[in-house]
Amino acid sequence: HTVGIIGAPFWKGQPKDGVEKGPDLIRSAGLVENLKGQGCSVRDYGNLKFENVPDDEPFGKVQRPRSVGRANKQLADAVHAIKNDGHTCVMLGGDHSLAIGSILGHAASHRELCVVWVDAHSDINTPLTTPSGNIHGQPVSFLIRELHPKIPVMPGFSWIKPCISAQDIIYIGLRDVDPEEHYILKYLGIKYFSMTEVDHLGIAKVMEETCDHIFSKVKRPIHLSYDIDALDPSVSPATGTPVVGGLTYREGIYITEQICQTGMLSALDLVEVNPKIGRTDEEISSTAKAAVDVILGCFGRLREGSHNPDYCLP
Ligand code: ARG
Ligand code: MN
Ligand code: MN
Ligand code: MN
Repeated sequence: HTVGIIGAPFWKGQPKDGVEKGPDLIRSAGLVENLKGQGCSVRDYGNLKFENVPDDEPFGKVQRPRSVGRANKQLADAVHAIKNDGHTCVMLGGDHSLAIGSILGHAASHRELCVVWVDAHSDINTPLTTPSGNIHGQPVSFLIRELHPKIPVMPGFSWIKPCISAQDIIYIGLRDVDPEEHYILKYLGIKYFSMTEVDHLGIAKVMEETCDHIFSKVKRPIHLSYDIDALDPSVSPATGTPVVGGLTYREGIYITEQICQTGMLSALDLVEVNPKIGRTDEEISSTAKAAVDVILGCFGRLREGSHNPDYCLP
């Protein structure tokens, strides 16, 4: 594997201070060293720098649209470049509004991609249904062609054109979905495995059906968008919108092992790690370690262990 890492220290898709510290926290928990140690070649492209956008007045309820639009354009260009360099792209967030730029940048070089969205939330509010005004609860709505007629023209967003169809995204881990979002999921027939399905089927069957769904015609590149709040808050408490009853550590890692197994992982987002929300050092380090382990699982780490093929017993 060759991995290209891009840090996006951006928080303006939500109101809580600290999520911009996610990329450096995940790096300091040993991401690059561990990836190299499992045989990946890694290029770290560093962190993007986001300039302040003055006079970023709300658009209706929606907060900081120009800042979010501009940051995502920078990210889309960076992800496109990393894909053109031939790497599997790893985007470290930052809040989940960054999936807009990450997925659009990925789609600019891989038109046929599909999206696996692992999250407690469906993040599919439109600017008109959002209860909070936070764009991290809306990224998917800008990406789906079928929703385009329902998306108002927002300042900073004119460059954004949808790049996937409703059948090209699948959710795992849902347990906090707003009524308007639930309507959209049902109305567009979007495939999802909420925590109820994880409980009912078990994570192994969920991943089997996930692969059947995304590869129903041909195998195609996967964009895995992994919100750390998909995991139970007992595992990853340092995040802005924790929800009880989440994926266990084992379920969360099993997802990555199966995605890796497909051989089709093309880009990964790891978002919503917020060190300022951890109440103790232990809460922060447990969240950071979970984030690193999710990424390592995506790039071939096996819980059974592994060895170099040329190893000889002494
Ligand atoms: N559904 C809520 C909203 O629209 C919460 C979204 C949480 N999203 C996230 N990326 N953590 O604001
Ligand atoms: Mn291109
Ligand atoms: Mn979430
Ligand atoms: Mn999310």
